[in-house]
Amino acid sequence: MNDLIGFFDSGVGGVSVLHEARRQLPNENFLFYGDNLNAPYGPRPLEEIRRLSAAGLGYLMDRGVKAIVIACNTATAAYAEIVRGQHPELPIVGMEPALKPAHFARHGGAVIVLATAATLGLSKFERLMSLYGDDVIPVAGHGLVELVEAGKARGEEARERLGALLSPYRDRQVDAVVLGCTHYPFLRQGIQELFPQAQLFDGREGTAARLKYLLDEKGLRSDDTPGTIELQSSSGAGAVALMRSLMKSLDE
Ligand code: DGL
Repeated sequence: MNDLIGFFDSGVGGVSVLHEARRQLPNENFLFYGDNLNAPYGPRPLEEIRRLSAAGLGYLMDRGVKAIVIACNTATAAYAEIVRGQHPELPIVGMEPALKPAHFARHGGAVIVLATAATLGLSKFERLMSLYGDDVIPVAGHGLVELVEAGKARGEEARERLGALLSPYRDRQVDAVVLGCTHYPFLRQGIQELFPQAQLFDGREGTAARLKYLLDEKGLRSDDTPGTIELQSSSGAGAVALMRSLMKSLDE
């Protein structure tokens, strides 16, 4: 079964998940689509996020993918249930902030969940909070997706933005920081500098493992050696070049 596996994100962030999926599933052929033209999704109204997600996922489906990963916490929270209802036969893996493992890693301190305003405001996160919400500080990462989209994940501007968002919590004991948006692993260094004692959590490994499990369960694994990666963007070649360089930065 050598068909494509489709990955979708509002922009370049989802390649952090694709990178991990490629590591766990080296024989698969991946097609990544980033809607960079319309990123960020986080500040948009719910109906707009749904409409844009439907268009992005529609592109992948038109290409005949055998499975889909919604490599975006925001699009998952807004749209995963709806698209699963429409395509019950298609394996669709979504993402959510990795609050559960962060909760169990606590040792008396707080957990910061950094995610988009939309992710934090939707009912999926409310459910997570009702289970693992002890001493959680939700922080909306205003401006962070924009910096990663502009190729500025490692610069001084990113440091300043992270400082403005997170410095108010530096005098607390913070045991864990959840990177609840697939763009944020590229800001890892700056976040760790602000909270050197904290463990950082993101959903990449679990998401790739879930994809692998579903492919196995449905007998959909590919035997191509090695697999391929095709990167596509609604905004063209510049965004694709940034995706490539961000993926490469994860190997460093
Ligand atoms: N990577 C998306 C996520 O995980 C970013 C959302 C946005 O575009 O604001 O939520």
